[in-house]
Amino acid sequence: MEYSEVVQRRRSIRRFLPREVPDEVIEDILQAAWLAPHSAMSQPCRFGVVQDGEIRSELAQAAAGQTWVGQAPVVLAYCVSIAKDFSTPSPDNLPGTLGRDRYGSDLIDYLGAYEDSRAMRIFWENSAPLLAGQQAYLAAVSHGLSACWVGHLDIARAGRILGLPQDLACLYLMPLGYPAEEPGETWRRPLSALVFHDRWKS
Ligand SMILES: Cc1cc2nc3c(=O)[nH]c(=O)nc-3n(C[C@H](O)[C@H](O)[C@H](O)COP(=O)(O)O)c2cc1C
Repeated sequence: MEYSEVVQRRRSIRRFLPREVPDEVIEDILQAAWLAPHSAMSQPCRFGVVQDGEIRSELAQAAAGQTWVGQAPVVLAYCVSIAKDFSTPSPDNLPGTLGRDRYGSDLIDYLGAYEDSRAMRIFWENSAPLLAGQQAYLAAVSHGLSACWVGHLDIARAGRILGLPQDLACLYLMPLGYPAEEPGETWRRPLSALVFHDRWKS
């Protein structure tokens, strides 16, 4: 499938056929996620492949009771390593320096003030699983599968369900499988209303 067709076809699908996803397809999807960019070679993502029915159902409960999540044959669990301390700037702590340059020290100090430094780390690593997951999502579509992002998730509960250690957090889920529904009409603001050239004109 051409890349442009994959992008056009990708929609959020929430009903799946009870058809197994071949291992080699899952492997190809994981390869796409693996190759995604990440900040400063941190490679923070870990990828859970959840096929056990009980664990899928438990994850659906952690996802605000979105039961359809557990009905997909595969649920990818996008986890990140939150082991690093990003609060202090130093030459060997690029995120610590970059965070202050990017967001300003007020926000970094605010997040750093939490006794549980997970807040800072989760904030910092939030984009990595989204980049990896979107590559996986498009790879899945190219294999005739469909999926949906799930961000309405109790991160702490998902971590407990998956048996993650303290220094890993599951930030997003992605149920995927062969679609059992046609996506409905979608709506996007006109591109011309979203694009600006050189400077924003109000
Ligand atoms: C980061 C993120 C989190 C999302 N979380 C959920 C979710 O928890 N439940 C859900 O049903 N859809 C979720 N979605 C799917 C969006 O609702 C969907 O992408 C959007 O409505 C556009 O529809 P489309 O994907 O079919 O183009 C999420 C999408 C993104 C990007």
